[in-house]
Amino acid sequence: MRYLIAANWKMNKTVAESVEYIEKFKPMVEDIHQVDIMIAPSFTALSSVSLELNNTKIKLGAQNMYHVDRGAFTGEISPIMLKELNVEYVILGHSERRHIFGEKDELINKKVISALEYGIRPIVCVGETLEERELGITLNVVERQIKMAFAGVYPDIGLCDIAYEPVWAIGTGKNATKEQAQEVHHFIRTLINELSKGNDETTRILYGGSVNENNAKDLISQKNVDGFLVGTASLDPEKFYKIITHSL
Ligand code: G3H
Repeated sequence: MRYLIAANWKMNKTVAESVEYIEKFKPMVEDIHQVDIMIAPSFTALSSVSLELNNTKIKLGAQNMYHVDRGAFTGEISPIMLKELNVEYVILGHSERRHIFGEKDELINKKVISALEYGIRPIVCVGETLEERELGITLNVVERQIKMAFAGVYPDIGLCDIAYEPVWAIGTGKNATKEQAQEVHHFIRTLINELSKGNDETTRILYGGSVNENNAKDLISQKNVDGFLVGTASLDPEKFYKIITHSL
């Protein structure tokens, strides 16, 4: 399994700041070939970052997209617009999209289907809230999110990656323990193996939620942790680089 270490910059960094980061980061990872590295900047910086990443192995990702190719959808970004900028990955169903912007499983499913149609690799985010964990329904929540996100495309799960991001661990500095992560990742692996009838060999199950340069090694040591989706710590090229090197 080739790991994926992905940066989600969220609503951070102007175009100038993004370009400055990439110029510093590119030479740092030049000789790293063992893992896939992806960066998802803001939409406004996608074009400049795309040019910067030309002729490098670093992959470009988008943080969201709408599922329709064009039309009267004010404020939305379509898959053809992303393809034009050489975007290879799209983060879908992030907990901030679900909880702040009210995205439901049905919409996330439409986006997954659309991304696959356009050859963009979805990273589908799932994860329970603190309340759901305390109620003991973590696995039920994750199961529902996965079954619904991939409805109609189970045999194509191998063309997608999944990020397990417990909501209580995002941006809080309180990561899941390696045992907590492994439990859910193992559950997801078993589930997607069944749903896809074994077509899940190329699906990476990433962990996200307060990953940093100090906990990355421990978390990646778990059998079913196949990479990371990093928020806060990815904003600093040195820290993101350390997370990558701890994952080799
Ligand atoms: O997409 C990334 C996750 O939401 C994790 O964010 O590393 O700031 O906790 P964080």
